[in-house]
Amino acid sequence: MSPAERSTPDLGALLRNQAALDQIGADILNGGPRAIRYRETRAARMSMAFVAHHDEVVSVLTEESHFSVCHYDPLYAAVARPGAFLIMRPEGPERAERLAILDAAEAKTPWFGPDPAQRRAMARACVDDVLAAVSRRRRFDLIGEFGFFVPYLIAGRVLGLAGLRSFDLLSLGVCLVNRHSLLQLFRPETGPYLTDLAWSEFVIAQLLINFENRLPPFRWAAAWGAKRVRAQIEHRIDTSPGFEGDHTLLSALWAVRGRFSEVEDDVYREHVVSILMELGATLLLVPGSGFSGIVGRWLGPGGPGLEASLGQLQAMDAEEKAEAFVQEELRLAPPSAHLLRNATGPIDLGGLTLKTGEYVCALVKSAGVDIKNDSREVKADRCPSTYLHFGPENGPHLCRGHRLSPSILAEMFLGLTRLPDLAPRGRLTACGGLVPGRLIVDFGEPVGTGP
Ligand code: HEM
Repeated sequence: MSPAERSTPDLGALLRNQAALDQIGADILNGGPRAIRYRETRAARMSMAFVAHHDEVVSVLTEESHFSVCHYDPLYAAVARPGAFLIMRPEGPERAERLAILDAAEAKTPWFGPDPAQRRAMARACVDDVLAAVSRRRRFDLIGEFGFFVPYLIAGRVLGLAGLRSFDLLSLGVCLVNRHSLLQLFRPETGPYLTDLAWSEFVIAQLLINFENRLPPFRWAAAWGAKRVRAQIEHRIDTSPGFEGDHTLLSALWAVRGRFSEVEDDVYREHVVSILMELGATLLLVPGSGFSGIVGRWLGPGGPGLEASLGQLQAMDAEEKAEAFVQEELRLAPPSAHLLRNATGPIDLGGLTLKTGEYVCALVKSAGVDIKNDSREVKADRCPSTYLHFGPENGPHLCRGHRLSPSILAEMFLGLTRLPDLAPRGRLTACGGLVPGRLIVDFGEPVGTGP
């Protein structure tokens, strides 16, 4: 067998094993074949081509006509009624219409544009609320507080989804399984129930991570969860007193309604619900995963540690350079460490000829270090076009939170620098990947990685 052809019993398991993916990336970057194909040995016999060089990853993520994102379709169909999660899909007239509405609405809020001032102030205020809560305690879960509560508060202000409420035993169960204690559900900063957040986390994790291993109970729960989140958003739309003047995306989406007079009312409402669902679920989950992954890198084997990393941030003229610091950290520990596509027709990629429909895995994390000098060092002056962790700059699926997220994370890390003597008390669980972990910290002890 050629070095570019390998086999695996289970592609889904391979995709969940970050160390194995890092190894494939290293094999490619260290002089191996430019693309490596894995064939499944079990009945399904799927195959997937992996690429890791920066230029190949860019081409897979940019050339929409050759590489489509339609691998998401089966689960999209399962989790929500048709049309609910269309933003990430390339096909169909809905996507163009929905993105046009989203572009118009974003331009009417201060959260998504090039000027970071207002979103930084807003994110700082949310971080301060959480800091005030943790400062009253000696011990707390750093990832839960910063990766979970801060995004929840921000989603309220940015999207207009504050104070959603759903409560039933199944939702409560999902909350508790998703690492939130009963006490956390009733915190004054966040309102009485966080169940919609827990559902969003579950649904999007199923959508994006649980590739080819979707047992019926997970599918059923994801579909049920998507319906809960949808019902909450529809309730918010129906009960909002007016949509003007509060800077939320929800208001802005109605403020630009007149510009899309050709779109029928029920279709427009469907766009609004869908946009809020997708941005809401992502905002509630991914910045927290980013935070968790970065802290995990610091505390992991050979990592610089919490204190040294925050010291490096402070030494960089912290306020101003904090977003550049975050970009570097996301390059080294991206929450979406790989992205999947399908070949739309026979095509050559890195020395392989792909068949129509064959899976392609772009190893975004490996591509992040495939840039020439000092690629493993954190530097504040790297060229932004080298970054792929939000998708390529001009790519068709560039992240809609690519400006907001660095601002949020910058304020989270600056918030940590204001905490005195923060000491980890245990290992960070489940860092890396989309689902954030848990890390218990307390004040007043020397910093170390704990038992
Ligand atoms: C650290 C935080 C984040 C990271 C690293 C991240 C990363 C990414 C990446 C890599 C993609 C491209 C997916 C692909 O090409 O298959 C993407 C897409 C997307 N992101 Fe993010 N994201 C983050 C936060 C957010 C936030 C906060 C929002 C919402 C406000 C958001 C909304 C979206 C949406 C809607 C898409 C789909 C865009 C499209 O297909 O046109 N993301 N994100």
